[in-house]
Amino acid sequence: MENNKFPKGFLWGGATAANQLEGAYLTDGKGLSVADTMPGGKKKFEVLKSKEFVWTIDEATYYYPNHQGINHYHHYKEDIALFAEMGFKCYRLSIAWSRIFPKGDEQEPNQAGLEFYDQLFDECLKYNIKPVVTISHYEMPLHLVTKYGGWKNRQLVKFYEHYARVILTRYHKKVHYWMTFNEINGAFHFPALSQGLVPSNGSLDKQMIFQAFHHQFVASSLAVKIAHELDPNLKIGCMILYATTYAFDSNPKNQLAALQENQEMNYYCTDVQVRGEYPTFSKRLWRKYGVEQPQFEEGDLALLRDYPVDYIGFSYYMSTVVDKVSTTATSVSGNLLGGVANPFLKASEWGWQIDPTGLRIALNELYDRYKKPLFIVENGLGAFDQPDEHYYVADDYRIDYLRSHIETMAEAIEDGVDLIGYTPWGCIDLVSASTGEMSKRYGFIYVDLDDQGQGSFARYRKKSFYWYKNIITTNGADL
Ligand code: BG6
Repeated sequence: MENNKFPKGFLWGGATAANQLEGAYLTDGKGLSVADTMPGGKKKFEVLKSKEFVWTIDEATYYYPNHQGINHYHHYKEDIALFAEMGFKCYRLSIAWSRIFPKGDEQEPNQAGLEFYDQLFDECLKYNIKPVVTISHYEMPLHLVTKYGGWKNRQLVKFYEHYARVILTRYHKKVHYWMTFNEINGAFHFPALSQGLVPSNGSLDKQMIFQAFHHQFVASSLAVKIAHELDPNLKIGCMILYATTYAFDSNPKNQLAALQENQEMNYYCTDVQVRGEYPTFSKRLWRKYGVEQPQFEEGDLALLRDYPVDYIGFSYYMSTVVDKVSTTATSVSGNLLGGVANPFLKASEWGWQIDPTGLRIALNELYDRYKKPLFIVENGLGAFDQPDEHYYVADDYRIDYLRSHIETMAEAIEDGVDLIGYTPWGCIDLVSASTGEMSKRYGFIYVDLDDQGQGSFARYRKKSFYWYKNIITTNGADL
């Protein structure tokens, strides 16, 4: 397909998160994060959902893939050189909070942690790659959970504020694009990752979940405030898990259910962070879960109103289907979401329903609602790769997935959407967030490592590496 619809300066790149690739989990003064206590394996979420789970490391029972990740901590120069070879304009990464504040509640930051990210950003800038930084991506310091109980505790707002101030102050001349919390709304389904809540410390109590959201909203606005005081031109966004949500059929009851699912999953957090106020449907949503309005402190609502985000970052992997009426639909799950099977879509090997048209719908819906720039900061296909004897992977399935999504992005731009960038997830193979597997690969770069952590850690270019390089070179014109 020929098109020249992508604007000049479009931010082509790739995305990762510290806990899923850095490894070196105790190196240079890093403290433990919540991710460091999460075991690998397909049953990861079952383990985290069980009443027995406590925030500790039990190496006799479990393997912890994040501890070594893909050892990006020691390979970052090589990895960034490969991103540069593809022509990346930007690179989305996260700062591991517990490298900067090992426990989270210290006054003084860890200098070695700060220096590491200075070097990482300098390496990106050397190739004119703009870093895009997530302040908190599923990796809060463990101590903030074991001592303070996670985000349900208001005290986390001040620890996050201090952390955000330190990193924004230190790096704002090197980093122009920021995001406050990864997939903040994912806590509706899985509060362990972003709120530090599991059954043993409050996740079964929805009041705690909504209170934790409120604290995160306040913390997010404080980060926006700090950023804009440092430099009004900095761009600081939210980051939501967006799944286009359809009704199973034209039964009005299903249509209403889909609307309400959309309000809850896609818009509750986004409305607060983008519009600066709680949405009109909030009271009904709280009632649905039998909870009271979260506790607000004086000044909170003014802060939310005065410091909304500048852009909307979102992940998009799949769409979902809501059915409250029919008995014929079959349940599916994926990317922390539930729903029923869509008979018009195929799914990935992990059951995530592939829907490029849904991305065009998402872009239109988000832009119509908020009129703020959009940034797709995650998208991609998790798949088993079969390298040949030279470790080359002919991943045409991944190319097909990405091409079909980029095509609909181009259409959405024609629809009038202000889309500023695209960073496919796991641009280099890394540890899966939902299963802890290495074998669920997204990358343009193959990493020789298996689910038990065995392998040489060597990096190899896949077929998609060359394909994506050409996409960037032609600014999306040659798909
Ligand atoms: C998003 C997360 O939910 O999806 C990433 O922000 C995650 O951290 C990505 O890795 C893909 O999910 P998974 O479970 O396939 O790694």
